[in-house]
Amino acid sequence: MRKICFASNNVKKLEEIRAALGNTIEILSLKDIGCSEELPETGDTLEHNAFQKARYLHDHYHVDCFADDTGLEVTALNGAPGVYSGRFAGPPRSDERNVDLLLQKMEGIKDRSAAFRTVIALILKGKEYQFEGKAAGSITDERSGSNGFGYDPVFVPEGYERTFAELSLEEKNTISHRGRAVAQLAAFLLDESRSGG
Ligand code: IMP
Repeated sequence: MRKICFASNNVKKLEEIRAALGNTIEILSLKDIGCSEELPETGDTLEHNAFQKARYLHDHYHVDCFADDTGLEVTALNGAPGVYSGRFAGPPRSDERNVDLLLQKMEGIKDRSAAFRTVIALILKGKEYQFEGKAAGSITDERSGSNGFGYDPVFVPEGYERTFAELSLEEKNTISHRGRAVAQLAAFLLDESRSGG
């Protein structure tokens, strides 16, 4: 069976991607390939960071691999926090403080529109591919719900009246940025492995 390393040790992300791929391709974590160092992530776009991580793994571990990067892009904040979503409120990383800062910056602002965007960079047999998933929606005035993580309690996806944190994981995955990017990656890999690539 083909093996591909995913540049993550995040159990939830690994589960999600393994579920999308069934048992056709084996997904290895960073730990599985013996990589314990922090991957470089110094760019100012999601694309830059995703490819930076994937290329690092490819160059140092000589494996087929993919890496993801996600950001919340808020229209009224000119696309912020974007690539800096994880460290919006500064170190140490804290979802709690990031959400507080976002709500504070959005106080009194009418245009609440925003979108989550996930970029996946894949390196397969030395060739590079990019996949993207987007979920449009809006930022609430206050937190609601306790599922999920990050900005989930203050993000209502388009067509819904509940936040991501009020949806089940399954519901969220079918419409989320990462779910959509992962579905595209999975379709590509399955097609590739079927055609004997
Ligand atoms: P990462 O690229 O997956 O590490 O995501 C960067 C940051 O974006 C995280 O620290 C979260 O704050 C936020 N984020 C990513 N995905 C989600 C999501 O599905 N819901 C809410 N916040 C998210």
